[in-house]
Order: sequence, then C-alpha cells, then structure tokens
Amino acid sequence: MTIKGFIFDLDGVIVDTASHHFAAWQILAEDLGVPFDEKDNELLKGVSRVDSLEFILNKGGLVLDSQTKLRLMEKKNAHYLSLAGSIGVNDALPGIVEFIQELKSLGMQVALGSSSKNAHQILGQLELTDAFNAIVDGNRITLSKPDPEVFMLGARLMGLTPSECLVFEDAKAGVEAAIDGGFQVVGVGNEIELSDADAIIDDFEEMNWERMQNLLSNS
Ligand code: BG6
Ligand code: MG
Repeated sequence: MTIKGFIFDLDGVIVDTASHHFAAWQILAEDLGVPFDEKDNELLKGVSRVDSLEFILNKGGLVLDSQTKLRLMEKKNAHYLSLAGSIGVNDALPGIVEFIQELKSLGMQVALGSSSKNAHQILGQLELTDAFNAIVDGNRITLSKPDPEVFMLGARLMGLTPSECLVFEDAKAGVEAAIDGGFQVVGVGNEIELSDADAIIDDFEEMNWERMQNLLSNS
C-alpha cells in the first residue's frame, strides 16, 4: 500500500521533552519514596499522565485517594511545564522540520499523534502548529498508548487508512500502539526497546523520504 500520510509522536521525536517528563516524574517519585530510574521511564514513554502516576504508585505499593492523585498530577505537570518553558523555535530535533517540509512538498499529509495534553502548548513554542494537517493530543483521546486510538484518529482526520500511514515513535508503548492499529512504524532511538518497529533510526538528521523508503524496504 502506498504511504500517503505520516503521524509523528511529539515527545522524543519532534523535541526532546522526554527528558523533562522523566525529570519531573523522578522528583515526584522521590517525594513519594518510590525508586524510579531510566528503565522505569522507558515503560512510561508515550503513556498518559494518569497511567504514569498509577505505575509509580503501584511500584511503591501506594494507594491514594483521587483528590491526592489529582494534586500530584498537577504538581508533576507544573514542574514539567517549568522545565519545558524555555523550549523555543530552535529546539526542534535536528532534521525533523526539514523532513516534514519535504513530505508536505511531495503532497503528503502530516499529523501529530501524542498522548500529551501539553502538545498544543509545546508545538506553539516550536512554532510548528501550522505544519500539521491534523493534531491529535491527550485531550482528544480516551485510551492512551499502547492503545492505537491516537493513531486511528490521526489517520481518520487525514482521510486515510492505517495502511496508508507511517508512524514515527520513540516509545515502546507507541510502537506497540502503531502495530496494533495496523500501521507501519519507524522507531526513533533505542534499538532494543523499539525492536518491533519496521525500521529504526537514530534521528532525522539528513533524513529524506527516499532514504526512509530504502530503510523500510531493506528491513
Ligand atoms: C507522552 C510522553 O507524550 O505524553 C509521556 O511520552 C507523558 O512521558 C505523556 O507522560 C502525557 O503527557 P502530559 O503532558 O499530558 O502530562
Ligand atoms: Mg514520545
């Protein structure tokens, strides 16, 4: 099936906010006395705020009431936003803006598929909101990755079927979501965590559609 549309995850694919989410969760976990390291964080990439909190509480064997959980999520988010506040137009990861521009110049459609409720805010800071034909963020979905809802909606908004779309993901949960939804998926980053993806790239530096197609057909 010919690819006509692309769905990009945000955190860790377009901008390095993954490290800010990690730092903010780590501080919260520390306050709660729950050990939380990079390995735990890999499992939380792409996972919604509430599911991430539940993971940390489970790990620590903690049971909290819903008011306290809301307060902790607000605290985490405030910390995340203060870390991400300095993100500006030059902080898109190398090559990503050029790659999206090339796809659009070839007549392809481009969507965002992120679990984050802050996606609009971050895209605005990057001045990339207008680069997308469709934006699906954490406010528009009920089920977080690894459920494919975010990508299914992205494809639908572009008027395409999953088999006509290619997803880019840095998270294991995101790769699983894409596969479950019937999408081809390129992992961005960790070869071991993302080994189920159709192809894996380190980043978008010097990436173009021809190179990407070669990677997919050789994998
Ligand atoms: C994902 C991130 O994109 O969004 C996760 O990979 C994050 O780390 C999730 O927890 C939810 O983000 P937010 O901004 O709604 O708390
Ligand atoms: Mg991500």
